Amino acid sequence: MQGSDRQAAVRFENVEKKFGDVKVLRNFDLEVQPGEFVVLLGASGSGKTTALRILSGLEKPSGGQVYIDEENVTDVLPKYRDISMVFQSYALYPHKTVAENISFPLKVRGMAKDDMDAATLNAAKQVQIGDLLDRYPRELSGGQRQRVALARAIIRQPSVFLMDEPLSNLDAKLRGHMRAHLKHMQKSMGITTIYVTHDQIEAMTLAHRVAILEKGVLQQLATPAEIYNNPANLFVAQFIGSPPMNVVHGSLNGGQFTTNGVAIQTAVTGQADKAIMGVRPEDCSIASSGEGTLFGKIYTNELIGDHALVTLDWGDDQISVKAPKDFAGEQGDEVGVIIHPDCLFVFDESNGQRIR
Ligand SMILES: Nc1ncnc2c1ncn2[C@@H]1O[C@H](COP(=O)(O)OP(=O)(O)OP(=O)(O)O)[C@@H](O)[C@H]1O
Ligand SMILES: [Mg+2]
Repeated sequence: MQGSDRQAAVRFENVEKKFGDVKVLRNFDLEVQPGEFVVLLGASGSGKTTALRILSGLEKPSGGQVYIDEENVTDVLPKYRDISMVFQSYALYPHKTVAENISFPLKVRGMAKDDMDAATLNAAKQVQIGDLLDRYPRELSGGQRQRVALARAIIRQPSVFLMDEPLSNLDAKLRGHMRAHLKHMQKSMGITTIYVTHDQIEAMTLAHRVAILEKGVLQQLATPAEIYNNPANLFVAQFIGSPPMNVVHGSLNGGQFTTNGVAIQTAVTGQADKAIMGVRPEDCSIASSGEGTLFGKIYTNELIGDHALVTLDWGDDQISVKAPKDFAGEQGDEVGVIIHPDCLFVFDESNGQRIR
């Protein structure tokens, strides 16, 4: 497929959504550039699907405005929005074959049969279901149904794609393959895409920018590298990264973070009686004997493959360190850990905000 000249910009402006008394989206502002791939990442129930349904027009916001390009579409019917959405639940027509499901948007437009058949086969092949065109949805696995829904969205070539966990039912291998394919396809078609997932690897690999939602509140909107290297708050810091960032409780005074009687010099200047230091396992290392920022007993040493993950007890906290795969320390051994001062973050324990 060729690059599209139908790239739309999308903007949520102070959008609120309540279901009864429950606020599902709060002060939601999100601006997506033409042709951009933005991933909405958040835990189950954080409001991701609701945001997509508001943009597609299936749900009315309780407050705020939605724009496509510069047009305020808050009150525009879904069919006039030129959006294609892949639903979390597929939403296939049960009495239509795979081919009829995929080609339906073209049929509605009145496309000639031969052209429609060619486009259907092409879209089906892109998601590896070219041999299933005559089946009915009930004769497909969940992952195959999901791919029919994807093909039906692709075939429309809209100006905005909305995808709600489109890979969640695929096995790991196919998911990896489809992820790469979607990224390639989005780049070559250049269609503005908002993609919802709770999978951080998908978010980090696919997105130009990642929007992290928690309980209906946007926590950070930034490139994957920025989210990883410069998290806005403790929530984002802990949500991204596998294994997760270590958190150590202590206090911050004049740039010194003190934990269990050990003072660690940091690059930050703030002050907090209760502070949290965050450091990723890959930014710590096991010290050679006698050296180290702090010392603790090994809780467990796990060989992951290309490295070992060594976890120590540290007061009420634990610290995990990425170590060489041949690291031989055993449970109960005392070891030193070096924490690289440039790679540590400090947060205010009272509100989780970064102290810089
Ligand atoms: N029609 C509705 N009526 C009442 N509550 C709703 C409705 N739709 C969604 N909710 C609630 O709004 C919150 C957000 O739902 P939403 O479907 O947007 O979450 P999500 O981030 O997509 O979650 P998941 O990852 O599980 O799909 C949830 O607490 C959900 O129960
Ligand atoms: Mg959802």
